[in-house]
Amino acid sequence: MAKRGLRLGLCTGGGDCPGLNAAIRGVVLHAELSYGMEVYGIRDGLTGLSQGSSGVERLPVARVEEILTRGGTILGTNSQGSPFRDKAAAQRHIAAIKAAVARLKLDALIVIGGDGSQFMAKQLVTAGLAVIGIPKTIDNDLVGTEQTIGFATAVDITTEAACRLGSSGEAHNRVMILEVMGRDAGHIALATAIASGAHAALLPELPFALDTVVGHLRAAQKTGQRGGLIIAAEGAHAFGGDPVFRRSVSGSLLLGGIGAQVAAMVYEAMGIEARSTVLGHVQRGGTPNPADRILASSFARHAVDLAQQGAFGRIVGIRRGRASETSYASITEKRRTIDAADPMLQTVEALGTTLGRPSTSNKRRR
Ligand code: F6P
Repeated sequence: MAKRGLRLGLCTGGGDCPGLNAAIRGVVLHAELSYGMEVYGIRDGLTGLSQGSSGVERLPVARVEEILTRGGTILGTNSQGSPFRDKAAAQRHIAAIKAAVARLKLDALIVIGGDGSQFMAKQLVTAGLAVIGIPKTIDNDLVGTEQTIGFATAVDITTEAACRLGSSGEAHNRVMILEVMGRDAGHIALATAIASGAHAALLPELPFALDTVVGHLRAAQKTGQRGGLIIAAEGAHAFGGDPVFRRSVSGSLLLGGIGAQVAAMVYEAMGIEARSTVLGHVQRGGTPNPADRILASSFARHAVDLAQQGAFGRIVGIRRGRASETSYASITEKRRTIDAADPMLQTVEALGTTLGRPSTSNKRRR
């Protein structure tokens, strides 16, 4: 009797990002066409599985053929925080997921997710399930990979916004502040500052000194430049200050508001009009750019190959531009922030963008 292909469960978890559907498509196409596997889509992340099997659908090739360029995720997702937080709840969820996996006769799970989903997946691996991870998040802050699905498109969006703000600021002689996502990692802000030629990049990893930023803007104005452009990561904060939070409508605490604070500080220090724009979820929605379509497709291909080889318990990734893998056993809840030796920090400063480090000599712009 011919050996049947594997039955894979596939889900997307955490905040959405451009490229999730491209990854789903890649998994289904390669699994079915290359190996005769069957893929079952799990609705709303891993928690969907722990809440019963009603949210599980067979994903044939025909269902995914047209989704390469579509934003969001056809499987839905869930970013309400981990249901695994306390020990008792985690045990309950893990038992429910194991029961659902057995009932659905799934041989393995492929989890497309960020740090929260991958940390939950790690606990499933510890509990004996066969899991393979695919890293995604616009924040690009997962350990074990240099790039995650969604980051490249987010930077396209933030860069376009920054350049538009820059020209408006120049027209009105205003300092424009763009607040971008990233939680406690500044990858989006740093890349956006380089790609837009901003005057300043404020990163969560490097508390800024307002004097340095203002000195830099003044120096630029002295050369005849009008306006100014500052990219502020949502987790950035001044020396001696704390990250700024606001409350969502449901009462949860979210990072956000540093842009408006910087605008007020700049106005007070320079007497020049300053405006802040918060890009928000525009950064996460919509079609993935080609780089993210390629990354998502490559990660999907790699994950399915690992499943076929029976090499479970790993998260795929990219290191030095090549496909790589990280074992779930080695991951923690720690996120990948910008480290002091990141060459992108040297690049941004070499090109005249201040990071607001205290008492740094400001490179003159133009
Ligand atoms: O993890 C991605 C991210 O976009 C963060 O940069 C941001 O702080 C957060 O999600 C917001 O998520 P939500 O509004 O879904 O809670």
